[in-house]
Amino acid sequence: MLSIKMFCYKVFQFTILLLHLTDVNCQFTFSALSLQPQTSSVGSNATATCNVTYTGNTAITLTWQIDSVAVQQYRINNAQVPVLGAQLASGFDTSPSTTTSTVNTGDTFPMSLEIRNVSLTINQSTISLGCSAPGCNTQAPLQIGVCQPSTASGVSATVSSSPCGFGCTVLYSCASGYTGNDVTATCQGNATFNAIPTCTSSSRSKPLSDGAIAGIVIGCLIVVALIIFFLIPIFCAEICCCTFKILCLSWGTKEYTAGRS
Ligand SMILES: *[C@@H]1O[C@H](CO)[C@@H](O)[C@H](O)[C@H]1NC(C)=O
Ligand SMILES: *[C@@H]1O[C@H](CO)[C@@H](O)[C@H](O)[C@H]1NC(C)=O
Ligand SMILES: *[C@@H]1O[C@H](CO)[C@@H](O)[C@H](O)[C@H]1NC(C)=O
Ligand SMILES: *[C@@H]1O[C@H](CO)[C@@H](O)[C@H](O)[C@H]1NC(C)=O
Ligand SMILES: *[C@@H]1O[C@H](CO)[C@@H](O)[C@H](O)[C@H]1NC(C)=O
Repeated sequence: MLSIKMFCYKVFQFTILLLHLTDVNCQFTFSALSLQPQTSSVGSNATATCNVTYTGNTAITLTWQIDSVAVQQYRINNAQVPVLGAQLASGFDTSPSTTTSTVNTGDTFPMSLEIRNVSLTINQSTISLGCSAPGCNTQAPLQIGVCQPSTASGVSATVSSSPCGFGCTVLYSCASGYTGNDVTATCQGNATFNAIPTCTSSSRSKPLSDGAIAGIVIGCLIVVALIIFFLIPIFCAEICCCTFKILCLSWGTKEYTAGRS
């Protein structure tokens, strides 16, 4: 009676709810969002890319976000070319791109977002692409870095700016006691330098191996032994004898002469 009427009403409500749910369902599948370069230097551009498959058949909006700030939007509809929405006031300098061809249900197309002049304040921010339905989303953390000048021993560095971001240069020279060429290195978009300095210690330019050191020590010992046990006795005897002979002779001659006179 009343309960049957109520039951029918509940079924009707449930059907409406289901229809509503399918309406806000995610109409996309996404590949994992990838960032190029993996780590971007301060002041350079980072680009996020994703392959999107359109599984729906009605119009739906895809939004690029940096943390919870919407930066760009596209309207995707069956059998139409994606339409870029008006630039959102986000405070970020971004440039989106996607296919310029018609998208049909089941098609996969690439979407990308270039974020220009990145700063350290958005290091580890989440960049995402998705629609408003639950789970309709792919995301990745933005990684912002700075170039770290070499701190190797013997290297002295003069940095053009600190922190050292995109385009920053470091003039490397070698400290005294080290040899190597002066090098100018520039910080690239992926937070690495395009050159590294090599300064080698000039006082020990050819380090000796243990074997060579042992050989030299043994050689020295042999030479010292030869001098002590062989050369000195011989030469000393000769020298002593000689000196003695000279002295002896001159003395003897004198004696002799003296004796004669
Ligand atoms: C970033 O993009 C802008 C516009 O495309 C370009 O002029 C600039 O040179 C780019 N910067 C870097 C570091 O690639
Ligand atoms: C998108 O698909 C293309 C072609 O299959 C592939 O080369 C590219 O790596 C994909 N990009 C991403 C971010 O998955
Ligand atoms: C990049 O951003 C910094 C502040 O983060 C700003 O001072 C600089 O002028 C910007 N450079 C460009 C080319 O927009
Ligand atoms: C960016 O964040 C990561 C993770 O927290 C951190 O390791 C890195 O040092 C940060 N980059 C800079 C330049 O501070
Ligand atoms: C950084 O970028 C430079 C120039 O584009 C490239 O030669 C180098 O291999 C990159 N380094 C890393 C670690 O990706």
